[in-house]
Amino acid sequence: MTSTVVAIDGPSGVGKSTVAQRAAARLGLTVLDTGAMYRAIGLACLRAGVDLEDEPAVMAVAEGLDIDLRPGKAGQLEVVLDGEPVGQHIRTPAVSDATSRISSYPGVRRRMVSLQRQVATRRGVVVEGRDIGTVVFPDTPHKFFLTATSLVRARRRLADLAASGHRTSLEEVLADIEARDGRDSSRQDSPLRCDDSYQVIDTSDISIEQVVDRVVRGVAAVAAPSVATP
Ligand code: DC
Repeated sequence: MTSTVVAIDGPSGVGKSTVAQRAAARLGLTVLDTGAMYRAIGLACLRAGVDLEDEPAVMAVAEGLDIDLRPGKAGQLEVVLDGEPVGQHIRTPAVSDATSRISSYPGVRRRMVSLQRQVATRRGVVVEGRDIGTVVFPDTPHKFFLTATSLVRARRRLADLAASGHRTSLEEVLADIEARDGRDSSRQDSPLRCDDSYQVIDTSDISIEQVVDRVVRGVAAVAAPSVATP
């Protein structure tokens, strides 16, 4: 690894994207949202109309895609699918559901992990996802695992969906988050898993700025460790 990599992992709706963007701005790094990469494949599978339970069919779609990462707005790398920036098309509930299914396939993950590692050889990045500190960049000293109860996360997600014009209920969003948590944590390949190498931050009762402060201070502490005086 040649550049700084800050790994931010955690379950759906915990606030990883906002924290990653604000921490990256303060640290002078670029943001890589790996969920957006998996979502681009989920979107392509829905558009192709493949059976999401049919792993070879999903792989055939994934292998035929041209996925590129280009510098976008606010220091974020934008996912470009067959020449088209994916934008908000990847943020619908249908794409969320499809993505949580197709991201369990090892072939899909292998391709995404290789792209993610290539990016970090060229620039310093804050990478957010599920397996960044465990699988993609296990050697980085900067690992943060964000948590919050499923109810807190469902309330936040409901507010985000309402803001982007999607009408749904708290019960529906909570059921969806719990189903996705189950799939993310129980899949065989690269499940969502926290270990001792992470700094865990419970975001339930603190502000986004407080979470960002902890990440930025955590990175700075490792970059310039305090020397114990005898
Ligand atoms: O973070 P998100 O909600 O945008 O992620 C969308 C889906 O992609 C989610 O079901 C988990 C999956 N994902 C993954 O398996 N590995 C990652 N590194 C990032 C996301």
